[in-house]
Amino acid sequence: MADGLRKGLTSYGDAGFSLFLRKAFIKAMGYSDDALNRPIVGITNTYSDYNPCHGNVPQIIEAVKRGVMLSGAMPFVFPTISIAESFAHPTSMYLRNLMAMDTEEMIRAQPMDAVIVIGGCDKTLPAQLMAAISADLPTVVIPVGPMVVGHHKGEVLGACTDCRRLWGKYRAGEIDDSEIEAVNGRLAPSVGTCMVMGTASTMACITEALGLSLPMSATIPAPHAERFRSAEASGRVAAEMAKTKGPKPSEILTPASFRNAQVVMQAIGGSTNGLIHLTAIANRSPHKIDLEAFDKLGREVPVLVDLKPSGEHYMEHFHHAGGVPKLMAQLGDLIDLDARTITGQTLREVVANAEDVPGQDAIRSKANPIKSEGAMAILHGNLAPRGAVIKQSAASPKLLQHTGRAWCSSRSRT
Ligand code: FES
Repeated sequence: MADGLRKGLTSYGDAGFSLFLRKAFIKAMGYSDDALNRPIVGITNTYSDYNPCHGNVPQIIEAVKRGVMLSGAMPFVFPTISIAESFAHPTSMYLRNLMAMDTEEMIRAQPMDAVIVIGGCDKTLPAQLMAAISADLPTVVIPVGPMVVGHHKGEVLGACTDCRRLWGKYRAGEIDDSEIEAVNGRLAPSVGTCMVMGTASTMACITEALGLSLPMSATIPAPHAERFRSAEASGRVAAEMAKTKGPKPSEILTPASFRNAQVVMQAIGGSTNGLIHLTAIANRSPHKIDLEAFDKLGREVPVLVDLKPSGEHYMEHFHHAGGVPKLMAQLGDLIDLDARTITGQTLREVVANAEDVPGQDAIRSKANPIKSEGAMAILHGNLAPRGAVIKQSAASPKLLQHTGRAWCSSRSRT
């Protein structure tokens, strides 16, 4: 099969002419024949002035390109849609599948032997995983990483667990105009994704558990130097994948890896949206997410990561405590350690290299969980005949049983 620049030639009815023309045009960018004869690693650029969560993407791309070239391959950066939660009208969910289609089709349409997708804000990693599975080209995922925490009057702030809480205090008259203005400048103190266990953090952890990103890549804070060294290492891995033509997502993703992702989602106190996205991701593969099996897992898997909103800490604390590899080590036989990763290692090797951090309290042991049962449960009833998901680990006990009138609105969106 053709590779590099010879892949997927434009249809001019003459393959030789198609390649001649392609090379003639790309040479306008100043590339040499040596550069153009290398295996190609495509790199998605999801930077946007509307997306502060992806504010470090240009620096990540530079590091990735360095890694690709140090390993003898050729990086090609191309743009895709970028979606930021607070800039999508009326809601970002409408755009996830559009981003999946955009990413998938541009991976298919352009010549590349491997691809690196860079994302993080809530809908972006799900869209990119869906695209990668459908395109089934060797893929490395790089999460952009979480923001560092904010501080206000001696309190640690987390976007966005504290956004609504403090806005509620303002509306109740408990804090005044000048204080809410100060809070507004402190809730998101750096680029990167929300640093609580929201959808972005959940999807980054799931991606790492699936074996589609480098160990520790879910949790490294977005502005840290380590984030860019990890990006360089991701570039090196992608270059090797471009040379060897594998492994592809279809060779990494198995029932065991999807089960591992669900175990990790329960143990981190993951977002309910994470289950919605993981279902859509699995639907791009031969494997499916079974709600009853997920509910059963929730009764067996304790919440071990002490992060807001289920617990107290933030993503940077999870990272400094050992990140997803340490969590999987603590989960022991709940994780299938024979599952493969993009580096060629199994999770057994990843877990064996997990850092032991004396005195850390962000990743608990199974003997001392923050909740003895998992984060999420599946509910059934006449309000949700096909099932609904609740994040019970973040709910106060009074929310778990409620009697009241159900109001159904027939008003449609205008
Ligand atoms: Fe982008 Fe929270 S708004 S991750």
